[in-house]
Amino acid sequence: MNRRPFVAGNWKMHNDLVAARALMAGLRAELGGALNVDVAVCTPFTLLYPMGREIDGTSIKLGAQNCHFESKGAFTGEVSPPMLVAAGCDYVIVGHSERRHVFGESGDMLRKKVVAAQAVGLHVIYCIGEQLDDREAGNTERVVESQLQEALSADLNTDLLTLAYEPVWAIGTGKTASPDQAQSVHAFVRAKLGGVFGQETAQRLRIQYGGSVKPGNAKALFECPDVDGGLVGGACLVADDFVAIISAAQDSV
Ligand code: PGA
Repeated sequence: MNRRPFVAGNWKMHNDLVAARALMAGLRAELGGALNVDVAVCTPFTLLYPMGREIDGTSIKLGAQNCHFESKGAFTGEVSPPMLVAAGCDYVIVGHSERRHVFGESGDMLRKKVVAAQAVGLHVIYCIGEQLDDREAGNTERVVESQLQEALSADLNTDLLTLAYEPVWAIGTGKTASPDQAQSVHAFVRAKLGGVFGQETAQRLRIQYGGSVKPGNAKALFECPDVDGGLVGGACLVADDFVAIISAAQDSV
């Protein structure tokens, strides 16, 4: 099955308006033409609306890095899925390891976020991934399986779902999973997705790899049969690097 690769940049808590506009100008200059991959930039909340204007007329899409699971109410400091739609988002990342491990978001909460985001038409990038001690103890598959079970069920809209496998020990550390390590977990995840959604749908769903994706390692990762692009942190903050990673995804088609 030919899946269209999907590369998303996770800006995390980086960039002010000036830096963000400069980065977008760099991306626009290089990514003006038609792409054979999907591309999104997931910016901080405060940059969503202005970056939505920056990507106007390009094939780059806008995403948020988190959302709340209620649509409105007394939830100080939170941002709801309808608010993200109003700000111009097509995508939202749910379950990033920093949300799970730094902010203590539970599986139950993440499940509610996935459902609430899809209910207003947002495409969810649902992140899973083991920590270093899980991997060293041989528990990688058990951890990712339970993260899948917590949030996913057959009633979800699979047209609005992408998975991102991000081994926590590879995020922001400069250590990348080897292509073999990535492929092995991606194939496992796809098999489990088959159990939830059926084999045909599982073959259609995209699974991004994330964790220190750089211009120098993107090609080998994206060439793995079950790796369908990447969720890119640090390298997406440099226009040339992000463009090189997108080119690697285009070449893998
Ligand atoms: P990194 O981040 O590319 O800086 O490792 C990836 C992510 O956290 O999504």
